[in-house]
This record gives sequence, structure tokens and C-alpha cells, in this order.
Amino acid sequence: MKRDLLTVFDLSSDEIGSLLKRSIDLKSGIDAGKCPLIGKSIGLFFEKPSTRTRVSFEVGVYQLGAQPIYMSAKDLQLGRGETIADTARTLSRYVHGMAMRVFKQTTVEEFARHATIPVINGLSDLHHPCQALADLMTVLERKGRLEGIRIAFIGDGNNVANSLIEAAALTGMDFVIASPDGYGPNVSITDHARKIGKGRITATNDLKEAVSGADVLYTDVWVSMGQESEAEEKAARFSSYQINAELMKLAKPDAIVLHCLPAIRGKEITDEVMDGPQSAIFDQAENRMHTEKAVLEFLVR
Ligand code: CP
Ligand code: NVA
Repeated sequence: MKRDLLTVFDLSSDEIGSLLKRSIDLKSGIDAGKCPLIGKSIGLFFEKPSTRTRVSFEVGVYQLGAQPIYMSAKDLQLGRGETIADTARTLSRYVHGMAMRVFKQTTVEEFARHATIPVINGLSDLHHPCQALADLMTVLERKGRLEGIRIAFIGDGNNVANSLIEAAALTGMDFVIASPDGYGPNVSITDHARKIGKGRITATNDLKEAVSGADVLYTDVWVSMGQESEAEEKAARFSSYQINAELMKLAKPDAIVLHCLPAIRGKEITDEVMDGPQSAIFDQAENRMHTEKAVLEFLVR
């Protein structure tokens, strides 16, 4: 029976633990040159732009011995009316797994329903599970544990925050999000995470309260891909939701700073923090590739 990674909750706590361990081994180079997916092909389907997800998957797939095939949604017959279901049925006959970046979570879910191969969500409006795995790996590298770590997310409660909430629930991190009223995380994801999880999930609009005593500060762009028409309104609502040196003083002295990237420097984060000694942001970007390789090894047969 094939498995998909459409949300972090598609994994168990134990599976996350094993994937992180394997990611750390892969990063160490222990299995460099081994090609567990030799002779296979992995489709990479994108409805939106990407730097990290696209390139880390392309390189990671190659390092596992498989062939990556990039597919821009606008170049496929989807644009001329072919259905997602028929695209999934057809591509399942050629490739051994798919990573997909889509506007709507329902698109990747529909694709996965009709595909006979594993499908990995490479970001939708609601989730970004690959990002969350890289974030967990980075916290683990820097802090040596996940359970009990307080992660303060400053900003928009959409895809990246939702996946971190699920990740916190499965790993026992304390997750607090500070966002302006009306921009909190998805309510049903948060409620579900609170019910099943071992971590604490808190939402507030008070960023000082959120950051107080935090081990990890995290932010994301104010305006996500596809929200360009809301840019002006969001810039006004989020203007004080910035990670800067002043805010950092409220966190633990050894707190680290994460950002999924791309960053709009001077908006959600200052240059000083992003390039400062507490930033683990580019390790986090690197870890996208190691965690994606671990996921591909786990899912693709
Ligand atoms: N963090 C992330 O997913 O980056 P890209 O949009 O560049 O893929
Ligand atoms: N929330 C951002 C994440 C980018 C990786 C977006 O959806 O554009």
C-alpha cells in the first residue's frame, strides 16, 4: 500500500524520529554514492515558483540515484482541461513518486487519491510538511532535543505555521504563534493538533508574550505566494510583527532564529538578525535536501 506525505500528520511520532535520524546520517555523508533509488524517476510538479523545494528535490533525487523530472503545471495538458485525476493516473505509469507544489491542498489530495505512487506535498495553501521536517532537523541539531522546546512563530498562520503546529504536536514542542487578529493558524488543524498532540499549541496576537522565554524564533513572509492582491493590507496589519534585535532580547539568550525563506529583509526580519550569530536559517535551508532524501527513501519503493 503506497504512502503519501500530504501533511505532517501523515507520519507518526516514531516515523518522524526515524526520518530525522536518517536525515542526520545522510547529511554526514555516511551513505554518499549509494544509490537506493537507481533506475527510478521522480516527478516534480510546480504550480508556483520555488528555489529551495525545486532545487533540493532535484539534487536530492539525483543523489539517490534516480532521475528528477521537473513539470511546470502550465506546460502540462492540465492547462487545456485534462483532469488532475487523469494526470495522476497517467504519471503513475511513468514515475515512481511525485513531489507537488500547488495552490490548493485539495489538488494534491485529489492527485494522491488517483495516483498509485507516493505523493509528497511540496507546499499548498494549508501545509508545507517538507519544510517542517527540515525545521525539526535544524532544531534538533542546534538544541539536541525537540520535546519541551518553545518555538515562537511570529507572523502569518498559514501553510508553514500549520505544518509546524502538527510537527509540534507529534514531537512535544511548545508552539506559540503571534499574529494579527484574523491571521491566526487554521482552526481545524490547530484543534486537531491540540487533541492528539503531546505539545502545547498557543495562539496570541501579543508578540512579546509569544517570544518571552523562547528557544526558537521563527517567521515567514507576510505575503504568501498567491496572496499578492492582499499585499497592501497585509503589510499594514503585519508591520509590527518583525523579528529584530529588540525582540530577540525577550527570547532565551541562546535562542536560534529560523525562517523558511524566501525572506523579505527589512519586513518580517531585519538584516541584523538574519545575518547574526543566532540565525540558523541557511542550515535550515540546507536541511531541506537531507530530510527530503530521507522521505524519498522511506516512501518510494
Ligand atoms: N521554503 C521554501 O519552500 O522555499 P521555496 O519557495 O524557494 O521552495
Ligand atoms: N508562506 C509562504 C511560504 C514560502 C515557502 C508562501 O506560501 O509563499
